Amino acid sequence: MSRPRILVARAVFPEVLDKLSQHFEVQSNQPDEIWSKPALIAALKDKVGAFTTGSERIDAEVLAACPHLKICANMAVGFNNFDVDAMTARGVLATNTPDVLTETTADFGFALLMATARRVTESEHYLRAGLWTKWSYDMFAGAEVHGSTLGILGMGRIGQGIARRGAHGFGMKVIYHNRSRLDAASEAACKATYVSKEQLLREADHLVLVLPYSASSHHAIGAAEIAQMKPSATLVNIARGGIVDDAALAQALQDRRIAAAGLDVFEGEPAVHPELLKVPNVVLTPHIASATVKTRLAMADLAADNLIGYLVKGKPLTPLNPQVLAAA
Ligand code: GLV
Repeated sequence: MSRPRILVARAVFPEVLDKLSQHFEVQSNQPDEIWSKPALIAALKDKVGAFTTGSERIDAEVLAACPHLKICANMAVGFNNFDVDAMTARGVLATNTPDVLTETTADFGFALLMATARRVTESEHYLRAGLWTKWSYDMFAGAEVHGSTLGILGMGRIGQGIARRGAHGFGMKVIYHNRSRLDAASEAACKATYVSKEQLLREADHLVLVLPYSASSHHAIGAAEIAQMKPSATLVNIARGGIVDDAALAQALQDRRIAAAGLDVFEGEPAVHPELLKVPNVVLTPHIASATVKTRLAMADLAADNLIGYLVKGKPLTPLNPQVLAAA
């Protein structure tokens, strides 16, 4: 009997490819080319499964052109590259990789907060440029982290991880805003207080964005929101590009409307707004918040296990639209 055909749309760990090859006929993109939509469709149209990353958009047009498709397994916790409603309507299962990256991503969120508040990259560039000729009392004086107020917008698993680090590790006062308030036990575990978005913007010394991207979170932070923040505040985005209006942020950083920003995600990435590249008070990283070897392998493994779980055993591990299972 012929084995199910799947597409691995981006380069992946060889051991994960080997595991998939034990169950499937695999076409893989190990050269890691970035495919146009027609190229993606050409590769996917005879497949029943896809291993995707955030760079492959699975929408109604792709689905209509790929009638055999039964599952897309995203190697990411975020899934704004999937039109989940269109997938559900076509009976295509969507899966993501929650949990395995929570603590690693929270570590990075905190690292970016620290680097931003304490001006780590700005001062390193200065040193590397040979500009350090003498010590001075206010050289790269930044913002205090311990004991300050940590604001978190989006209080899912990663947001709670950052809150725990702030509250327990750095004695920070933690305030948060989220679509829904956490239960009392979860609030107590991260010593976090629920506030309105306006209060969050007004009171945070360090504001970390960890909310999912959707039409309703597009430009959740723009010029009007930045105007409500303290001039001494820092803003950190490890969520998704598009949640921040990058042009407005670049202008605010230039005008010192807020002190600094740390960005791991960008509107239209891998392109970065040219004005952001010009301002010194921003730390820029290329979407690496979950990037440790162990965690990226765990994510790839979970995406592979979702393909095997569904196509071979009938039971995926982390479905996003389980109604597809009930209907199958
Ligand atoms: C990374 O951005 C992810 O969603 O896992």
